Amino acid sequence: MLAVKTVAVINQKGGVGKTTSVANLGAAIAMRGPDVCLMDIDPQAHLSLHYGLEPDETTATIFDVLAEESTLPNATKMLTPNLWLLPSTTDLAAAESTLAGHTQRNHLLQKSLTAQSLPHDFILIDCPPSLGLLTLNALVAADDVLIPLQPHFLALQGLAKLLETIQLVQQRVNPRLRVLGVLLCMYESVTKLGKDVVQEVRDFFEAARGTNTPYADARIFQTVIRRNIRLAECPSYGKTIFEYDARSNGATDYNALAGEFLACYGKTEPVPVSPEAALPPDTIAPVPVPPPMPYSSNPHEISG
Ligand SMILES: Nc1ncnc2c1ncn2[C@@H]1O[C@H](COP(=O)(O)OP(=O)(O)O)[C@@H](O)[C@H]1O
Ligand SMILES: [Mg+2]
Repeated sequence: MLAVKTVAVINQKGGVGKTTSVANLGAAIAMRGPDVCLMDIDPQAHLSLHYGLEPDETTATIFDVLAEESTLPNATKMLTPNLWLLPSTTDLAAAESTLAGHTQRNHLLQKSLTAQSLPHDFILIDCPPSLGLLTLNALVAADDVLIPLQPHFLALQGLAKLLETIQLVQQRVNPRLRVLGVLLCMYESVTKLGKDVVQEVRDFFEAARGTNTPYADARIFQTVIRRNIRLAECPSYGKTIFEYDARSNGATDYNALAGEFLACYGKTEPVPVSPEAALPPDTIAPVPVPPPMPYSSNPHEISG
């Protein structure tokens, strides 16, 4: 297996499906064989709770790693032989201000990742719903970004801001950073609004093909994650969708996504996606595309 691929799962909007996707895509990839480490860098610690982990003061967490009081191998817990979790803690919110005083504040995660070689094939980072210090750490450390998107009004504005930030980090500190793709979550094929948003996102990325941006090769994943109540229920039981209801649409969709995700890295053939869980073909004629977004760069945020 090649060197570990680090994929940051980011959208600065809350409630779009980041944590659900990290938890269940991670489990689905691990079920297919690769070794996966899930990192919870959100002070809300939802991913840790999803896996039934409630760290107490004796548990090493992401904060101890960023503060250089623990190492990744020490703080990462084994869930199954090839699925690992680095837990977060609600203390991370307060700790963020301590870390902000650090001269290398945006490079703390990258430093800990490069300090020793890790035995994983994939690291999936569940980011908080902001573009603050913790998300910047993920962008500096990551190879790729996966963007969960809930297709509704204003989704595009948020996406534009996120892509600006990604481009800034790529230009200034992490040249290998690229956007792997957009994952449509809580998808309802029947709504016109959903279809319109998908078309706009498609047009935007089509216009970016061949440009010198980190999203020139971004895809919209063919697999969509349908709205499925079972996905919302399983975190309360500390279970993944595969443990909670392996026959649900949620399990079907995240399993199909794992196939498509691994195919992006040349690992497997994608599994056929059931027609209801796939995007409809692009039948709408291309529309004129808006010009690239202007920058509102803040070099202090990203340089160091
Ligand atoms: N496909 C889905 N269908 C139904 N509910 C979902 C789906 N994906 C996520 N949810 C629920 O929506 C809420 C927000 O999802 P979450 O993954 O926590 O978003 P984020 O991490 O982006 O804040 C959670 O209660 C989650 O259980
Ligand atoms: Mg979350």
